[in-house]
Amino acid sequence: MHNHQEQQATQFGFITLGIESSCDETGIGLYHSEFGLIGHQLFSSVKIHAEYGGVVPELASRDHIQRVLPLIKVVLAEAKFTLQDLSGIAYTAGPGLAGALLVGAAVAKSLAWSLDIPSLAVHHMEGHLLAPLMEEPQPEFPFVALLVSGGHTMLIDVKAIGQYKILGESLDDAVGEAFDKTAKILGLGYPGGPALAMLAEQGNPDAFKFPRPMVDRPGLDFSFSGLKTFARNTFAKHPNKKADIAKAFEVAAAQTLMIKCRRALEQTKYTTLVVAGGVSANLSLRKELNQMGKKVGANVFYPRQEFCTDNGAMIALVGHFRLSHGQRDTHYEIDIKPRWNLEELSQIE
Ligand code: KG4
Ligand code: ZN
Repeated sequence: MHNHQEQQATQFGFITLGIESSCDETGIGLYHSEFGLIGHQLFSSVKIHAEYGGVVPELASRDHIQRVLPLIKVVLAEAKFTLQDLSGIAYTAGPGLAGALLVGAAVAKSLAWSLDIPSLAVHHMEGHLLAPLMEEPQPEFPFVALLVSGGHTMLIDVKAIGQYKILGESLDDAVGEAFDKTAKILGLGYPGGPALAMLAEQGNPDAFKFPRPMVDRPGLDFSFSGLKTFARNTFAKHPNKKADIAKAFEVAAAQTLMIKCRRALEQTKYTTLVVAGGVSANLSLRKELNQMGKKVGANVFYPRQEFCTDNGAMIALVGHFRLSHGQRDTHYEIDIKPRWNLEELSQIE
């Protein structure tokens, strides 16, 4: 670190800017070593993609280009900071859409270079995983983490920041993807997860019983593509029962996740469960997990609703942990990791 930065770090704290651009949301966060999260903004390009029924990668990239600098300006201005106050810049380097990731990486590295401060590549799923640390009370290590997003369904043994062992994952569709595809089958449009959850509220839970995939097999892996097929077949036979089908799907997905979480807690003997990623916003899932937690004596933690889905705050948080411990990018090339295994991450010393 330069002398000037060291001084800044002691006098004013360590200030990290976080940039998220892995999919269809541009997120910016600002994290202060003493005051925690001091600002964040999100711009979603979801409306642009809605007419195509899913994310169009090239449109997402172009939108990030337009949004990212204005959003950084807003976040800094609202927190009454300037670029010169920053101690480091973290950005999502993967996993995600290559073109979208490149926008955040290019902006982060160029800005960091021009300000003579370090930049750091952050793993998007580590962002989701640690997002509950921004809440009170905070979960304590070690814990089991259930990560449920549009691209991933994973159970992880988390011993400390950067010490991750994947206990189980989806063999086919991610659970968020299954929500989105089932919503599409029911004609609910994109993005489907929240729409399906809303419709399910009016559904009769006893109308249909969907299978709980893979719960009778040992292990902690998941499979959700069968649930979507079950929904398609049921809808073909009962086209007027949309809400009941949505309910049956949601309950089956939530209970399947709950059963595997219970098994992971038994296996690790941990008493803390952390749930994050877009689907952790689902209230039916939260209900199942909270009931199970009470039964087995485990505490369950979630991010606040707005930090369940993609955001810049979680990237600023991870950046803060790692940059303030001296981790940083070691070269100026703009490289991204559209595929990136969480287990490869380094521990914080
Ligand atoms: O974490 P996220 O914002 O992006 C990824 O990293 O994938 O997760 C998005 C996923 C989508 O599949 C979306 O449908 C789902 O999370 N989702 C929900 C809910 N809110 C978002 N699924 C079920 N119920 C919700 N309330
Ligand atoms: Zn995400």
